Amino acid sequence: MPTQGSNTLLLSRLSKTITTGVREIDIAGQTLKIHELGDVYDSLTGRALTGSWIWDSALLLSRWLVASQLDLRNKSVIELGAGAGLPGLTAALLGASRVLLTDIAPLLPGLVKNVEANELEDRVEVRELVWGSDESLSRIGESRGFDVVLMSDVFFDIEHMAALGRTLKMLSGSKTRVLAASEVRFWTGECLNELASQGFEVVEVPSQEGGVDGGGDIFAVYNIIPPC
Ligand SMILES: C[S@@+](CC[C@H](N)C(=O)[O-])C[C@H]1O[C@@H](n2cnc3c(N)ncnc32)[C@H](O)[C@@H]1O
Repeated sequence: MPTQGSNTLLLSRLSKTITTGVREIDIAGQTLKIHELGDVYDSLTGRALTGSWIWDSALLLSRWLVASQLDLRNKSVIELGAGAGLPGLTAALLGASRVLLTDIAPLLPGLVKNVEANELEDRVEVRELVWGSDESLSRIGESRGFDVVLMSDVFFDIEHMAALGRTLKMLSGSKTRVLAASEVRFWTGECLNELASQGFEVVEVPSQEGGVDGGGDIFAVYNIIPPC
């Protein structure tokens, strides 16, 4: 079992309080049930895995999808670093015909639980996808060229951006829309600059200003345009 110290160290970098339970989130007149798990740990480091909870960026992206003009009906959607899967499940409620929720292996049972809790098994699948891993990508090989790629709170470590960029390039076709929500932290700009150095164009799109649910933190939604 990890010590409280190791959790605190990890979470203080990302400013998140551990919560456990089921959250009910209203999405366009429907309710999504999302389990947040406080007992999913990295077997090597013993640290709590950050994808076990809904981050505020996921709430922002989910609300952005509801409010935007983006038509998700009959679209194929993949979520990277999905964690608890809120934005991807939102896309399914908004009419996406196929949604792939992806993350590292220890988080997949929690994602499956959230798909089942909302009876979305007919439209939503869960797969392992480690950024930059050719093996992960080959397992979903037939699914490249998604209409929409969703990401929330994944710009936390510049060292992961080369791998994330490689995966984004592999998943994107000429018409793919890549949307990412993030809390704007000290290192967010560095992560986005790293993606820009790989040829991505990063454009902030209008979203709810300021914090989520009255908090003081700053968030943004980005359109990440892959290089041709
Ligand atoms: C801060 S959490 C955000 C979770 C969720 N997107 C949200 O906003 O609630 C970052 C997520 O990225 C995932 N992640 C980090 N590094 C990854 C990698 N190399 N490959 C795949 N997923 C990764 C984590 O497992 C975690 O689910």
